[in-house]
Amino acid sequence: MAAPAAAAITALRERERLTFERAHPRGAELTQQSARHWQDGVPFHWMRDWPLPFPVFVRDAAGATLNDVDGYAYDDFCLGDTGAMFGHSPAPVAQALARQAPRGLTAMLPGERVAVIGAALSARFGLPCWQMTQTATDANRSVLRLARAVTGRSKVLVFDGCYHGTVDETLVCLVDGQVRARSGLRGPPGDAAAHTRVVEFNDVPALAAALADGQVAAVLCEPALTNMGMVLPAPGFHAQLRRLTRERGTLLIIDETHTLSAGPGGCTRRDALEPDMLVCGKAIAGGMPCAVYGMTEPLRARIEAIPANAEHGHSGLGTTLSANLLALAALEACLGEVMTDAAFTHMATQAIRLEQGLIALLAKRTLPWHVQRIGARVELGFGAAPARNGRESAAAMEPELERTLHLYLLNRGVLLTPFHNMMLLSPQTAPAAVDRLLSHLAAALDELAR
Ligand SMILES: Cc1ncc(COP(=O)(O)O)c(C=O)c1O
Repeated sequence: MAAPAAAAITALRERERLTFERAHPRGAELTQQSARHWQDGVPFHWMRDWPLPFPVFVRDAAGATLNDVDGYAYDDFCLGDTGAMFGHSPAPVAQALARQAPRGLTAMLPGERVAVIGAALSARFGLPCWQMTQTATDANRSVLRLARAVTGRSKVLVFDGCYHGTVDETLVCLVDGQVRARSGLRGPPGDAAAHTRVVEFNDVPALAAALADGQVAAVLCEPALTNMGMVLPAPGFHAQLRRLTRERGTLLIIDETHTLSAGPGGCTRRDALEPDMLVCGKAIAGGMPCAVYGMTEPLRARIEAIPANAEHGHSGLGTTLSANLLALAALEACLGEVMTDAAFTHMATQAIRLEQGLIALLAKRTLPWHVQRIGARVELGFGAAPARNGRESAAAMEPELERTLHLYLLNRGVLLTPFHNMMLLSPQTAPAAVDRLLSHLAAALDELAR
């Protein structure tokens, strides 16, 4: 079977749009009401990024199931775009929140359990020293500032196709070899190349050239790109990245926010990576606003020796509610009772079931696409072969097909993230839910082939 034709995609999309509208009268009503007082009609404009005429309004969510206000239940493979990777409201986190909520929410003072929580982070990720923020974005903003502070260098380096949150220095891309602000940005700061160098993932010579003059404070990277489809590291790439950054005195920062799906300590632990700093957010406290960054002992010593540490309150890092008492309670419960080896085993087992089912589904239809996986994170790519970098991954995107398939699945009770074809498996995802996803996707593809 050839890839679906544009006319078939458009026709299916239109039919499914009408189906969605007819099936969600309460959602339509709430859309009208909320339009009055919210910009873009929603409290956060990303909620309009779904391939829907109006959003699904959530009634409640638990485990791997989300229920909407029109009475539909969804098998959730989006899981809050990773924030709920360990399931919605994991019981230990919900209980810890209920215990802490009447005992103080935020105090800008350390809670009694911080020593224990720091030790748990250290044991899990292998770095001895930690800080907390409220979001992975803020953790990344912080580590880049710290890297500049300790190295005295102004530049940072990221890979084309990366996403590390709304950190200005990282919202850049390569266009004909030049660093440019990414398209669609609202109000980007001036010159995108002023502070950032960008190279293609897996391109060791380009990386070596970009680091050669010793002006780069840090490389910030995911172990594998997960925000532009999925791009896995070529064999030996991480070893070269570590060697080159060490040779040039550049710090290596690994952002495990999405690749935590790989296992209990993310790709860093699984693949014995050796970052100077590590960032993790989103799911780390079970979906509560919370992120962490860790660092090696030598780096901690360098940070604590920065002269500005002697002065008070001008670090430019952090926000008032960071490490609040509620976030600490959620983080401790998630690290200790939710992110267990057994949970990761279940997640990976279901992800393998999905991966193999997708491969079989494509093979049966001789569709020229591919499937990749990082632990509990599965990605269906529309390219014939896995992309080796952000450029190849971008070239393989099929936005109209993607949005049509997502809408079709949503109309049948299967929720996929609105950004590319990422599917996440939680500790509560049942094999039957995986099979439902596969059979609905097969039906969509068969309809498109007619
Ligand atoms: C790898 C990575 N880092 C950081 C972030 C930012 O997370 P947040 O939006 O929670 O700040 C994201 C968000 O998608 C991400 O994918």
